[in-house]
Amino acid sequence: MKKKIIVANWKLNGNTKTISNFLINFKLHVLPYLKYNTIVISPSTIYLERVYNNIQNLNIFLGAQNVDVNIKGSFTGETSILMLKDIGVKYVIIGHSERRFFHNETNEIINKKFDLIKKFNLIPILCIGESQDEKNKNQTKEALKNQLNHIIKHLGIQAFSNSIIAYEPIWSIGTGISADPIYVQKIHQFIKNYIYKNQNDINNIKNLSIQYGGSVNIKNAKNLLEQPDIDGLLVGNSSLIYEDFLKIIKISSDIFKKNNI
Ligand code: 13P
Repeated sequence: MKKKIIVANWKLNGNTKTISNFLINFKLHVLPYLKYNTIVISPSTIYLERVYNNIQNLNIFLGAQNVDVNIKGSFTGETSILMLKDIGVKYVIIGHSERRFFHNETNEIINKKFDLIKKFNLIPILCIGESQDEKNKNQTKEALKNQLNHIIKHLGIQAFSNSIIAYEPIWSIGTGISADPIYVQKIHQFIKNYIYKNQNDINNIKNLSIQYGGSVNIKNAKNLLEQPDIDGLLVGNSSLIYEDFLKIIKISSDIFKKNNI
């Protein structure tokens, strides 16, 4: 079994004091688990460097929550891929439903960002997911296909090498209602089958992981991570509390150890 990738998405939370407190305690306890997981912390842009300075010597990676479609120039208020790379970012979350909804990000914009992240050799975490309405109407697979098709059409299936797709059902994010692990497993299988259409694709698309995100917590992490096609978790609220985030990492480590004896 390959290592699961556990990503903290801190969204618009934290300040110098809470982040320092988190990092001091997190670093104190996380060492025994580092080799069993890939761990990524994604703070708000303004705290990226602060977090990086604390984790750069450990095997913990830095994630950004957004990137602009432009590389440089007159784009007030934006952060470019060059800047993110310059300060040590390795992963970039794009297509999050909160950005699609609150910032009107379309599949076209997300596609441009995906392309840029790949061109600069960083790792995109592409969020896709269905709304409550789409789920009710049995349109989940259509919604996911639609979000993936833009990348496939413009960049080709090969673009998914060294990438992460995060399946985040919108109805689950921040609600405390996680999707059922068996349901997630089936969706992840569907996504993998949609991308790997034949043996050629299996040979050519290397290092694609499918993560789950949506109300992950210390109670549901085990059942989710035990599913064979859930390659990792994208954790919101529960990643803000260092004890909870550590517990999720410990659960992931135990599963890795059990499967690799
Ligand atoms: P919650 O874990 O708070 O539901 O957030 C999930 C999420 O949106 C991660 O990107």
